[in-house]
Amino acid sequence: MQRRIKVLKDQLSLAREAAVEFTDLALKAVAERGVFTVALSGGSTPKVMYSLLADDIEFSSRLPWDRMHFFWGDERYVPLDSPESNFRMVHEALLSKVPVPVENVHRVKTELGPAADVAEDYQRVLEAFFAKERNGIPRFDLVLLGMGPDGHTASLFPGTSALAETERLVVANWVEKFQTYRITITLPVINNAAHVMFIVGGPDKAEMLSKVIGNQAESTAFPSQLVQPHDGELIWLVDRDAAKLLIDGQ
Ligand code: 6PG
Repeated sequence: MQRRIKVLKDQLSLAREAAVEFTDLALKAVAERGVFTVALSGGSTPKVMYSLLADDIEFSSRLPWDRMHFFWGDERYVPLDSPESNFRMVHEALLSKVPVPVENVHRVKTELGPAADVAEDYQRVLEAFFAKERNGIPRFDLVLLGMGPDGHTASLFPGTSALAETERLVVANWVEKFQTYRITITLPVINNAAHVMFIVGGPDKAEMLSKVIGNQAESTAFPSQLVQPHDGELIWLVDRDAAKLLIDGQ
């Protein structure tokens, strides 16, 4: 695994750098293979990045929209039009504004019924799309991730059953503290990606970031530390507030 860490001065620079990395990876994948596949995350900083991709001509004019396929790394178990919906957020910030063919948007269909059925359906979506992959596990060009102050990433929360998953690509993960299911891709999928990019900003993330990046001794204590792409690159984009304890500790 290769690892890169970049510290940006504030949240806007963080979102802009994420948009630059996203665009570079998309152009490279399309030049090499004609297609770019990305698993998107929810969260506040990615939202700013999605808006930049759509609204800033530096990005929107260069991105090969018809060759890009959008998936979700995790989704809240709520209706499509809920303010909580990650699909709705990405649709409003990005997809509704750019010429992406509708068949390139692969959302989690929370309206299908019980959470387990929704996860099963999304697993089939991934299997069908990535049918040609060698080991049966999708290899995304890019998996975008955020990190919570508790060390969760995607909807892999500390102490939840999804963390132990080794077979399934997608699960319905019960999250006790929210008393709800979340639909999430699993670690085997995340760790099979060509590039995994964390986007982490804000002072409330500083303590966890110093544990996750700085403290290898506790290397499997938090879900974010289990993200270790075995044949890919791990990119951490963080702002100064989040990196405060790392910088001070150096
Ligand atoms: C979600 C996410 C989740 C998120 C983190 C960080 O659906 O909420 O995918 O894992 O990335 O909670 O969120 P922020 O970037 O908003 O702090």
